[in-house]
Amino acid sequence: MRKQIVAGNWKMNTTVEEGVQLAKDVLAKSAEVGNGVKLITGVPFTHLYPVSQIIGSSNIGLAAQNCADEPKGAFTGEVSVAMLKSVGTQYCILGHSERREYYTETSEKLVKKMALALEAGISPIFCVGERLDQREAGEHFNVVKAQIEEVLFTLSAEQMANVIVAYEPVWAIGTGKTATAEQAQEIHAFIRKTIASKFGSKIADDTTILYGGSCKPSNAKELFACPDIDGGLIGGASLKADDFIAIAKSF
Ligand code: 13P
Repeated sequence: MRKQIVAGNWKMNTTVEEGVQLAKDVLAKSAEVGNGVKLITGVPFTHLYPVSQIIGSSNIGLAAQNCADEPKGAFTGEVSVAMLKSVGTQYCILGHSERREYYTETSEKLVKKMALALEAGISPIFCVGERLDQREAGEHFNVVKAQIEEVLFTLSAEQMANVIVAYEPVWAIGTGKTATAEQAQEIHAFIRKTIASKFGSKIADDTTILYGGSCKPSNAKELFACPDIDGGLIGGASLKADDFIAIAKSF
């Protein structure tokens, strides 16, 4: 059975002090969320350790937003999966469109990052999604399929069982524009079918596929009601504990 997950991606927001307070607020309200729903907070590197001290052994998971594509060594400014693991990181967002667009995150690099994360026992939250011009050209299925094939298809079935997928149409991220529930369901079903074509229907059925892109309390219910949408990867609305929790209560 796949898990229902609501994950926050704080991106490059909050100071450590603000982030610790936000984590405390999320923790305080987390009891309101249904038992079957897993919460994850995706925080900046500097926040991982202090936030891990707040969420402790609660049901809230800890995610980084990136990792190095090398295990260790002379790579100034990079953060390895071993470092992430050493501060209690359980998940890592990989392939976010902002990293693909601004930081030359290629599929080649992502293959290396995914393998390193999985080897370290960190579950990747692997993001896919098309740009507006690609959707308008009717290319969205092909774009998402290629993103999956180039990275996820390099994994073993055992590795794939530890991956969470997030569909984030670039045109809906931070724009206030959300994919309609029909648009999101259509492509989530396609993602699951693509995963099944390589790994079989059991693994595909068990893969959690999150929707991301201006997901908020007012639209989460409709999105989460779709059969192939298993939760959300939340940007802006994860910076307010009340909104984040309201989204997690939308199943
Ligand atoms: P917004 O929820 O701010 O649109 O961001 C979505 C996102 O990019 C999550 O990773």
